[in-house]
Amino acid sequence: PASDPQLVERARRAKEALGDRLFVLGHHYQRDEVIQFADVTGDSFKLAQQAAARPQAEYIVFCGVHFMAESADILTTGSQKVVLPDLAAGCSMADMATFDQVEEAWEALEDAGLAGSVVPVTYMNSSADIKAFCGRNGGVVCTSSNARRALTWAFEQGKKVLFLPDQHLGRNTAVLEMGLSLDDCVVWNPHRPNGGLTTEQLERARMILWRGHCSVHGRFTAESVDDVRERIPGVNVLVHPECRHEVVLKADHVGSTEHIIKTLREAPAGSAWAIGTELNLVKRLAQMFPDKSVSFLDRTVCYCSTMNRIDLPHLVWALESLALGDVVNQITVDEDTAHWARVALDRMLALA
Ligand code: 13P
Ligand code: SF4
Repeated sequence: PASDPQLVERARRAKEALGDRLFVLGHHYQRDEVIQFADVTGDSFKLAQQAAARPQAEYIVFCGVHFMAESADILTTGSQKVVLPDLAAGCSMADMATFDQVEEAWEALEDAGLAGSVVPVTYMNSSADIKAFCGRNGGVVCTSSNARRALTWAFEQGKKVLFLPDQHLGRNTAVLEMGLSLDDCVVWNPHRPNGGLTTEQLERARMILWRGHCSVHGRFTAESVDDVRERIPGVNVLVHPECRHEVVLKADHVGSTEHIIKTLREAPAGSAWAIGTELNLVKRLAQMFPDKSVSFLDRTVCYCSTMNRIDLPHLVWALESLALGDVVNQITVDEDTAHWARVALDRMLALA
């Protein structure tokens, strides 16, 4: 449905009143009614880079999810305030690795005699304390657009990787982009003693994948790909690397949200595409590229419910509050956590 014109006008006025004091970042999975107010849109990597791009802006309103806003707070100057319009906009995948669970796993790896031979690599989709854990322990952050570079950096040290928290991104990158075999990968189950693994399995593994996943991308199956190929002959299947391994194996292309947009932009007119990622983005792609046929990979609707929590009423409330000098829903990371998380984030930015 079209955005409420009164709310659109209120958001526009509040933005105008704040002028250069405000910088609005929007992830590609945000609703159209919200993304229209973003000064910059991007994937997680681009938004992390952009967070620091306006040091003069007093307020950064982050239209995305909690871990992205935390990263923005870590990467901006101390006087800038990061606001998440709805505090309930979390990420179920990020919640699948808690700090205590990761510390427990690390201790178990040490007990298995692997201290010093494992590099922790965390996907951006993780809490600030997991990023800080990686910073403290010689590790790095990665996103879906640079996971290969981060893994290359880790393997060049001659070490194994503990990959947090998305097993699919870790497996897809290691196996499909770096030539590891599925047998080189084991899955650490945080709910089982010793991750459910034997010391021999850990010694043999090159990738220890945390047992986390994205529930949105987990909805796509190998059958979704077979089905769309039957329905749309000649279709190009393009998926996000958070999809299961068997889905990515059957797809024609894989990449981050920014990569998905670029691929569609460069695709020839008249070509047909089935996209395996969040639905707000897929619908936007169909509008952006009317000369191409863009379909959703699955027949079922697949929004990210937490990304969708940032809606126009929440954005208007946040902007109007800021215009009145009331900083609502500020996201702050404590100094020590921010310091070490920044070490891991800076390592990632330096790899770019
Ligand atoms: P991108 O970095 O590709 O935008 O992905 C972020 C995300 O949360 C995907 O689910
Ligand atoms: Fe998290 Fe998945 Fe939503 Fe991305 S799409 S924010 S990984 S739940």
